[in-house]
Order: sequence, then structure tokens, then C-alpha cells
Amino acid sequence: MRPACVVAGTVLDEVAHFIRPGITTREIDQFAAERIKQYGAKSAFLNYRKYPCNICISVNDEVVHGLATDRRVNFGDIVSLDVGVRYNGYIGDTARTVAVGGCNLHAQHLMDITERALNVGIEQAVVGNRVVDISRAVQEYVESNGFSVVREFVGHGVGKSVHEEPQVPNFVENNKSSPKLRVGMTIAIEPMVNAGGSDVQVLKDGWTVVTKDGQLSAHFEHTVLITDSEPEILTLVKQGVVR
Ligand code: MF3
Ligand code: CO
Ligand code: CO
Repeated sequence: MRPACVVAGTVLDEVAHFIRPGITTREIDQFAAERIKQYGAKSAFLNYRKYPCNICISVNDEVVHGLATDRRVNFGDIVSLDVGVRYNGYIGDTARTVAVGGCNLHAQHLMDITERALNVGIEQAVVGNRVVDISRAVQEYVESNGFSVVREFVGHGVGKSVHEEPQVPNFVENNKSSPKLRVGMTIAIEPMVNAGGSDVQVLKDGWTVVTKDGQLSAHFEHTVLITDSEPEILTLVKQGVVR
């Protein structure tokens, strides 16, 4: 898992820095494909359930699973990038929302809260806790800051496949038993946070998930290893580790 996650984290970082006003999401996707290939890895998303792109690129009110098209990103847009790679049989899965050039304070605040929500979730990823401890921490942090968590899509176990047990929701499901976290588990924690309401819908392309109210959404994700001490954030890379 460690090498796969370092590749995913490195590619995400490279793609984030590649983005500039005026480029199309297809050009972003093509750049990601080149970087993934460079490391001897494969996109874990391309052809997964017939998904047609190398990475997921979701702009502004798009929540997740945005498709690469001729759409140009502009100064002030926020872009969620989700990179999944397969390397030596294992999957690394990581996401981040970035501003194109710069953005307004509202958008920046949404991104900051979402990234911190990921981090408060990761803090709960310790042996002895249950999955619901992660879910509760994320939900409380997001809602106490006036934003909402998406319910239709959740984090997940990750290993030889992209989506494994257990599900890792960003909200507490009442009256549901929650799996215990055990040493050696690798899970993708991934809050999807809406500036307005939590409702989402899927566009006619069959993939792109957008907020129903048209407000902005942000997404941060890390693949995390449960250890006998601190959680190990496998997709958190210092620049230049693989290069
Ligand atoms: N990246 C998503 C996740 O974090 C999964 C994308 S599935 C795809 O779980 F089919 F859209 F690629
Ligand atoms: Co992902
Ligand atoms: Co994921």
C-alpha cells in the first residue's frame, strides 16, 4: 500500500500545480495520465464501473466524479481532483480541492473547513475506535462551521480494490453497528462538504455529481493506515519523494 499511495499523492500534487486559468479539464486529465504512466502505475478509476477518465475533476458546484471535457477552468474556480492509482497490485486513493489561480474568501473557507474535517477524521483513525468515531468527528466539525456533509457518497476501505469494506460515512447513521478499527486496516477518509444543503444529484452524463442548490462543494481524501499508535497518512507525501 505504501508505494501505491506515494504515487497517488505525488501525482495529485503534480496535477494540482499544473492547473492554471484557461486549460481544459481534458488537458488536466491527460497530464494526470502521463504522470501516472511515468511512475509505472495505472489509473484505478479508468474503466472502473465504465468510468471514462483517468482522474475525477469536479469544478465548483460539482461534488465528485466530474468528467474531463472541453470545459476551461477560470481564475476563481475551485477544482476537486481525485486520483486513484493501481501500483504493484495495490490502490492509493487521494483527493484535494484547489483554487484556479485564486478564489474568494467564501470558497477558501469551504476548502479550509473541508481539509480540517479530513484531519479531525484522521485523528480518530486509531485502534480501539470504531468507524463511527471518524464519521462523528467529521460531521460535527463541518456542521458546527455552517456547512453540510454529503450522504450519498462515503469513504471506504481500500486495498487491492478501490472500494472495500468498511464504508466510512461522513455522518452518523443512527441505530447502526459500526466496525472496530484494527491494526493494519487501510481506509480512505474523504469528506465531501457542501457550502449549502447536503442534497446532490447526478447529471445526464451519468457520472457528474452536483449540489442540488448550485452552491460550491469541496472534497479532501487520504488513504490512512491504522497502526498500534498514530494513524499513518499513506497518501501524504513530502514533495519529491518519488521523483
Ligand atoms: N475516487 C472515488 C473515491 O474516492 C471513486 C471514483 S470511482 C470512479 O472513492 F468510477 F468515479 F472513478
Ligand atoms: Co478518491
Ligand atoms: Co475514495
